[in-house]
Amino acid sequence: MANINDEISRRRTFAIISHPDAGKTTLTEKLLLFGGAIHIAGAVKSNKIKKTATSDWMEIEKQRGISVATSVMGFNYGDYKINILDTPGHQDFAEDTYRTLTAVDSVIIVVDVAKGVEQQTRKLMEVCRMRNTPVIIFVNKLDREGRDPFDILDELEAELHIGVRPLSWPINIGAKFKGVYNIYEQSLDLFTPDKQKVSERVEIDDVNDQRIDAAVGEADAAKLREDLELIEGVYPEFNVQDYLDARVAPVFFGSALNTFGVKELLDCFVKIAPAPRPVDALERRVEPAEPGFSGFVFKIHANMDPNHRSCIAFVKICSGRFERNASYKQVRTGKSLKFSAPTAFMAQKKSIVDEAWPGDIVGIPDTGNFKIGDTITSGEEIHFKGLPSFSPEMFKYIENTDPMKSKQLEKGIQQLMDEGVAQLFINQFNGRKIIGTVGQLQFEVIQYRLEHEYGAQCRWEPISLYKACWIESDNAEQLANFKRRKHQFMAVDRDGRDVFLADSGYVLQMARTDFPDIRFHFTSEF
Ligand code: G4P
Repeated sequence: MANINDEISRRRTFAIISHPDAGKTTLTEKLLLFGGAIHIAGAVKSNKIKKTATSDWMEIEKQRGISVATSVMGFNYGDYKINILDTPGHQDFAEDTYRTLTAVDSVIIVVDVAKGVEQQTRKLMEVCRMRNTPVIIFVNKLDREGRDPFDILDELEAELHIGVRPLSWPINIGAKFKGVYNIYEQSLDLFTPDKQKVSERVEIDDVNDQRIDAAVGEADAAKLREDLELIEGVYPEFNVQDYLDARVAPVFFGSALNTFGVKELLDCFVKIAPAPRPVDALERRVEPAEPGFSGFVFKIHANMDPNHRSCIAFVKICSGRFERNASYKQVRTGKSLKFSAPTAFMAQKKSIVDEAWPGDIVGIPDTGNFKIGDTITSGEEIHFKGLPSFSPEMFKYIENTDPMKSKQLEKGIQQLMDEGVAQLFINQFNGRKIIGTVGQLQFEVIQYRLEHEYGAQCRWEPISLYKACWIESDNAEQLANFKRRKHQFMAVDRDGRDVFLADSGYVLQMARTDFPDIRFHFTSEF
């Protein structure tokens, strides 16, 4: 039988994140090509929702269908088992992305050399920072005109608040782009723009090798040596521990579309990226090699076929060996569950598996038993933390428009909230239900799904809110006083926790000044 320590140490579970259009899909596809998981470029359908289609709801449906297949992409690369967790590109689904980031051990960030750090990259990096997730940065599209690589490095450091250390270096960019010098391995790859073929490698001893001059010309070779000298002077030597501690991000340069610099990235990634790491539960820290199985649900994907209302719950395995048909405990309900058809995601295919190991993701068919954040174990009562809800950005009252179907509406809202589509708050003043989301699209998603999957009708009514924040205080009197004063703006979330609905930034600011003992939280995890 396989040894658990070997299985753990060969696993690399990570996500690729970027601002839309930086090249995440292209890079993912090229990694799959190297892993032999696909054979031609273009085989991975982008699950991003095209910008032009933001209001085209059916288009989103189609894309969602595709994205089940690409939710997790597992493949073997040499001795390594790699699991890439896909994240939705569209910012209205940012919350899905945040949750997926709780299930990975590291992250690759793709940045467009012409655009540098963009808004969504910044936001996602914040989540990585909260969790101390190690990141590697891939600066993409070197075949296009872009910014000076030193400027890019400065920007990465300043905007992402992390130290950087280039491990490869480009020789020119855009039309004059000639190749990349691999600092990590001291080798030189020449650029041959070809979408299917890996570029030519020049054998060299070190940066002073004359073969560099022969390959790229004397002037560019001299510039390369100058740049490298500057790098050595400015950036401390690369230390893997600094990367693992999330203090320093190694940076690679390349062109995903041209499969250039991708193999170097992958080869370094498998060597330095962390294997599955210990995971904190409320009660204790859980080590991956522990014999007892444990895992948590980080994503629930609904089947869009209304005739077969079922979902797939995605479980990240944190410890032990997962076995098909074993009895496991759903800690929240105390129920004992057996999974007869768990699926794994290998080489873009979904197939039933008999066992899986820490770092792996299994898909469990579900008909509404699971909630986002559920812990499953061999029997131990532990609760994994770290699946925060973020304070939503948009709010609407949800109203029933078909009184005959109020039960269906209730059930639909509850299950959609369990899936993590949006958040529900109940206003304590008027008892009305408020749905909070991170984007406009979710309201359309909810309305459509309530109608098609639950046969319920709803309409939205505007509510003008700036933020919903969770509040708590050690000063019971002040808390009670606050709740009395703000009673029109108090709500509870689904777990019965107090939420303050601030209708403007000013009001929130004043509340903080007037009630200094109250803590206002913008994520549900505190
Ligand atoms: P995303 O998932 O991060 O949103 O980005 P995606 O990979 O879809 O890439 C966005 C666009 O950038 C695509 O072009 C893609 O072909 C292009 N691209 C990716 N890597 C490179 C690169 O290294 N160099 C150059 N020049 N372009 C690159 P598109 O026209 O939007 O889509 P498509 O019609 O080519 O699929």
